[in-house]
Amino acid sequence: MHDKKQLDLIISLFSNGKVQEALDQLDPLIKDNPNDAVLLNISGACYAQIGEPIMAMKHYEKAIEIDPNYPEAHNNLGITLQELGEVDKALVSFEKAFSLKPEKIETANTISTILQEINDPNLSINYYKKIIESSPKLYLVHFNLGIAYQKLNFIDEAINSYKDVLELEPEFTDAYLNLGIIFDETGQLDESVKNLERAIEIDPTNSLAYNNLGITLKKLDRIDDAIESFKKAILISPDHPGTNHNLGMLLVKYHQSHIALSFLKTALEANLNAEPYWVNYINALINSDELDTAKKFIKKANEAGFFGEKFDTLSARLLSPIQVHAKGKFFKARDGHYLDFLNALHQNIFEVYFEIGSRTGASLALSQSPSIAIDPFFQLKHSPIGKKDFCLIFQETSDSFFENTLPKFSHLKCQLAFIDGMHLFEYALRDFINLSKISSEKALFLFHDAIPWSYKMSTRNNKALGRNEAWTGDIWKLVPILMDAGMKDNSHLLTSSPSGLLAILNPEKKLIAELEKNYDKICAKWLDVEFNQDYLLDFYQKNVFIKPELYLRKLEQISFGKRERGITKEWVSQ
Ligand SMILES: C[S@@+](CC[C@H](N)C(=O)[O-])C[C@H]1O[C@@H](n2cnc3c(N)ncnc32)[C@H](O)[C@@H]1O
Repeated sequence: MHDKKQLDLIISLFSNGKVQEALDQLDPLIKDNPNDAVLLNISGACYAQIGEPIMAMKHYEKAIEIDPNYPEAHNNLGITLQELGEVDKALVSFEKAFSLKPEKIETANTISTILQEINDPNLSINYYKKIIESSPKLYLVHFNLGIAYQKLNFIDEAINSYKDVLELEPEFTDAYLNLGIIFDETGQLDESVKNLERAIEIDPTNSLAYNNLGITLKKLDRIDDAIESFKKAILISPDHPGTNHNLGMLLVKYHQSHIALSFLKTALEANLNAEPYWVNYINALINSDELDTAKKFIKKANEAGFFGEKFDTLSARLLSPIQVHAKGKFFKARDGHYLDFLNALHQNIFEVYFEIGSRTGASLALSQSPSIAIDPFFQLKHSPIGKKDFCLIFQETSDSFFENTLPKFSHLKCQLAFIDGMHLFEYALRDFINLSKISSEKALFLFHDAIPWSYKMSTRNNKALGRNEAWTGDIWKLVPILMDAGMKDNSHLLTSSPSGLLAILNPEKKLIAELEKNYDKICAKWLDVEFNQDYLLDFYQKNVFIKPELYLRKLEQISFGKRERGITKEWVSQ
């Protein structure tokens, strides 16, 4: 046995950095007491200190051989093994040390740190479980176990681990954050919101929680709330590229690119290596008609090494239809998708929304106004009712509807119409005349597919096209027809992708009456006209093309439709 006084002296030499002197005193002692594990352990520590890890290990191993239940020797061996890069062996040593002395929390933390570095969730789970067995109250270990499960997509196990964390530490925000992510990703959006709101309640400065909440609220279609949440995150972390990008993209989707610009620019400036940040900022510039700046940024992106199809498409969007024509090409409408345009428009409420041609209900679902949908062949895949006060669905052709059904609903006034039924100009023209006769004083009529991007797709005979080939029919003819009928000032061609929208705003009733009178003559004149080289240039020269977002701004200026926030139509199922 060693002498306590002598040992204290050696320890004090060691602690005061006189390691060699400590070793000099230890050597004879060990010779006299070769089976003294404590002396061997201290000697190992001295060798480790003077940069002799192999000697250190030998001493620790000997100490452990003599006393296998010596936690400090296992721990010290773990440290040396870790320094030598033998991480797997180090883990075994630390784990042994911890099982012998579970009150030593630092050992558990060391194990966690190593496991996080190794990033092997399978291995980690085993270790965390062992630690939890001996120390079930270490909430951080439960948390790390949850992360490992989450990485392996063991969702239930991850949720349970995070719940364990919250039982031990009810205010641990990161557990709420991770639960928020899991519930968001598994489509349990309300649960996700609850957890994220709890995280925010505990830590109102947690910008990540606000950001993630914004993502989930967007999925729930709570757009105003999502925007608010992203803005709060940005208030806390003004330069965070991800959050700025998220908010910018949400605004772009809702046709608010002019507001999105500053956020997308901040995201780009914070991360010039991310191609999507370049593309999305330039896209927003083009949507806002800031073409010179867009051109400048395409050049900058090229200089930063970004090229390819996406940038070619952005460059193509800088050209007007006439400029595209001069290059011998068709103009293709690409300024945001038409459903996104309709969605932005439907943030307002209209007296009654009429939709001719609904098919799956993708466009109908966007309306929040009282609605009437007409289609002889519905294939609904979207809930038609949503937040609407009512939605009347008529399974018949529009001609049949106007002749037989409308008289029963003659009090309904059409304020917004989407004409997307039979894609032949004379049908759409009849729909327009019929709807105009029952329109509100201020009304907007939208015709889908008014900008074909090939001659072929404008055929009247869609049987000539392949099953999956896009067909616009000859809806384009309504542009010259309605302009000739005196509606030039009310006409706009919105360059929404993929094939544009013709918008007629507030047509005069007397012009509609004229149109109806001349209907047969107009049909006779236009029936056999083909979309060809002559008509194409004439079509492009009509000075009515407009970016959809600019058109929306015009509608905002005249306060078209009522802006109602926070409409909820909630009902409770039994
Ligand atoms: C292009 S789809 C409508 C797509 C829908 N508006 C959207 O954006 O999701 C055209 C629809 O018009 C319908 N249709 C065809 N002829 C019609 C007619 N004479 N009257 C009303 N709808 C018609 C078709 O049954 C088809 O469902």
